[in-house]
Amino acid sequence: MKTVLSGIRSTGHLHLGNYFGALKNFTQLQHKANCFFFIADLHSLTTHPKPEDNRKNIKIILSEYLASGLDPEQSVLYVQSSVPEISELYALLNMMAYKGELERTASFKDKVRKQPENVNAGLLTYPVLMSADILIHRAQWVPVGKDQEQHLEIARVLARRFNKMYGTPVFPEPQAYNFGEDLVKIPGLDGTGKMGKSEGNGIYLIDDEKTIRKKVMRAVTDSGPTEPNSPMSPGTANLFDLLSVVSEPDVVSFFKEQYDNCTIRYGDLKKQLAEDIARHTLPIKARIEEIYNNESYLKQVVEQGAEKARQSARATMKLVRDAMGINVF
Ligand code: TYM
Repeated sequence: MKTVLSGIRSTGHLHLGNYFGALKNFTQLQHKANCFFFIADLHSLTTHPKPEDNRKNIKIILSEYLASGLDPEQSVLYVQSSVPEISELYALLNMMAYKGELERTASFKDKVRKQPENVNAGLLTYPVLMSADILIHRAQWVPVGKDQEQHLEIARVLARRFNKMYGTPVFPEPQAYNFGEDLVKIPGLDGTGKMGKSEGNGIYLIDDEKTIRKKVMRAVTDSGPTEPNSPMSPGTANLFDLLSVVSEPDVVSFFKEQYDNCTIRYGDLKKQLAEDIARHTLPIKARIEEIYNNESYLKQVVEQGAEKARQSARATMKLVRDAMGINVF
């Protein structure tokens, strides 16, 4: 049976990118594989959030996970910081990760640009911690969105390097996973890049119908095609990308045909898109609040998850320490 792992940073509410990039694939796998899902609260510290935000965000993300269909009886659901073996493996992997290769990652360069006043070592070694998250359970499949591809490559490099350096195949090489298809990149509504937590261009699982409609209606497009089969502007192409994720194929081809013969009305497209997004998210939204308010249930889920995750993590650390020769006595 395959071991599957995925995780999400605890920096705010989950958006459509998180759901379609990682969560949905994961929930579909949880009945067929050995599954681990966690809240990356240590990764969140690279941007220096306030303690009260950390407390709140962990509870929010946990409730949103559960409301999205993660079953704590089928999967091991835990908070990263409650499994200290992850930090231990992170320290050990840091000894074999090279500054040059970490400096070259796109996410590091992006953060240097966005927060030049806080280029901490945690940002540089972010992919090493992520590798530790994956390798601690010797996971083979990692459901993620396209933005995490480069991080997965680093996890593979470190797994290979460890196995070679210590002459024993402790770690499998983890693969980014999306049911044999390409990884998805859910675009934002502002006509630029991907939907993100900090970009202010997203639709969240907790958004109500009216908010979803308002956000979609405001999405950036253009003045419409004037010639048959003309290329799409980035904003319009993004709306079609979103449509292809949330709507039926015949709906997508209906609007594509209208675009190609210049009869499209973006207002109709947006109305359909908002409806189809809501169809996916509103049932989840309905469950979030109830779960969020059930404190004793949340506590029980993470305590049970930490125990199971640590069991798996301890077994890997024994192999790692034996291979490295650091548990002589
Ligand atoms: P994070 O918290 O930014 O996002 C969590 C998951 O959501 C996916 N995602 C997207 N997918 C498609 N389109 C988008 N616009 C979009 N935005 C986010 C991400 O690809 C991710 O799968 N470093 C990770 C968290 C992490 C992790 C791990 C993931 C830490 N350790 C180990 C997997 C395995 C991150 O920042 O994701």
